[in-house]
Amino acid sequence: MAEATRFWKRFASWVTGSGRDQFSRASLRLAAVYLGLTTVLVAAFSLVLYLSLARNIESNVEGDFETEAAQARFVTETVDAIGYNILLADAGILIVVSGLAYVLAHRTLRPVRGNFEAQQQFVSNASHELRTPLTILRTEFEVARRADPASLDILDLLDRGLEEIGRMSRIVDDLLTLSRIDADQEPLSFSEDDVAALVEHVAERMRTYADGYGVQVSFTGGGVPTLPVDADHLERALVNVVKNAIEHSPSGATVRIDVVSDQRGARIEVRDSGEGISEEDLPHAFERFYRAKASTFRARGGSGLGLSIAKWIVEGHRGTIRIDSAEGQGTTVVIALPATRPSRVLHAGAVR
Ligand SMILES: Nc1ncnc2c1ncn2[C@@H]1O[C@H](COP(=O)(O)OP(=O)(O)OP(=O)(O)O)[C@@H](O)[C@H]1O
Ligand SMILES: [Mg+2]
Repeated sequence: MAEATRFWKRFASWVTGSGRDQFSRASLRLAAVYLGLTTVLVAAFSLVLYLSLARNIESNVEGDFETEAAQARFVTETVDAIGYNILLADAGILIVVSGLAYVLAHRTLRPVRGNFEAQQQFVSNASHELRTPLTILRTEFEVARRADPASLDILDLLDRGLEEIGRMSRIVDDLLTLSRIDADQEPLSFSEDDVAALVEHVAERMRTYADGYGVQVSFTGGGVPTLPVDADHLERALVNVVKNAIEHSPSGATVRIDVVSDQRGARIEVRDSGEGISEEDLPHAFERFYRAKASTFRARGGSGLGLSIAKWIVEGHRGTIRIDSAEGQGTTVVIALPATRPSRVLHAGAVR
């Protein structure tokens, strides 16, 4: 029993392959398995066919043969010809199958390869994001360690340290959310809620944050009182969008948040008059870890995850999220939520 299990484990690891380009090797091995199985089947089928045809001809042959030897020669030649033709057909079948097997094996493994590469990229991006605040923290502490204790402003040092720790906590929170989303373990639970009030609450909450940037937040809203939403998640999506609008606005500007809702659903608009997003960057704004290269606000330290999480949440409500932006003129994010309650949570595959 243990022998058999070991054999199957070794067989499975051989089929899957390992090493540098494990997917090319696995494709070849899978193709070899397909081909091997087909060869066995074709050989068995051909043998049965050959033997039954040969027996039939030998026992049923009748005709005007001059001698028994002539009849025997006829039988042998016919059976040989049948065997030769079966072999020829088998060779043709196996050549075609070997090509098909490779293509099929490649196709079978393609999604696995895609997921594997995306996961590798995700881990490498995540590590990179966490390295920046860690490097800053380490440098701050090393400099402080070498400084004259009398001249050290310990409160200032702690504040800067706490700021970096806060940044890391936010990144880790977002990463955990994304990994739960990928594992289908971030369920949305819907209940009827007043969307306009919820958005107004977010606007209130973000006013203190906006003060730090010298930015105002205005709100207008109303309409049908309730829609089926996951209030906590929707609030998180809105905070991400409003935070972006605040962070990318010049000092003295106003971020406008407007909600219009009716029987069919709600439309939430978050408008800023900031730097805008270039045409080149716009299609990538919802991608994980993406930050506009030309963004002058980059130093403020986002990790490029906020919009991808917001998109997943909105799409989990069967809603849509869209960005209209013109460089130098500002950005408007439009979220549309339908009034129908989603029957199940949408998977986040498309968000990557
Ligand atoms: N309102 C906006 N104005 C200008 N650029 C924006 C705006 N919103 C998003 N962007 C651009 O899109 C990028 C992606 O936004 P996203 O919210 O996903 O990441 P982030 O804000 O950089 O980091 P995080 O939200 O994870 O802290 C931003 O880095 C920025 O370049
Ligand atoms: Mg953001």
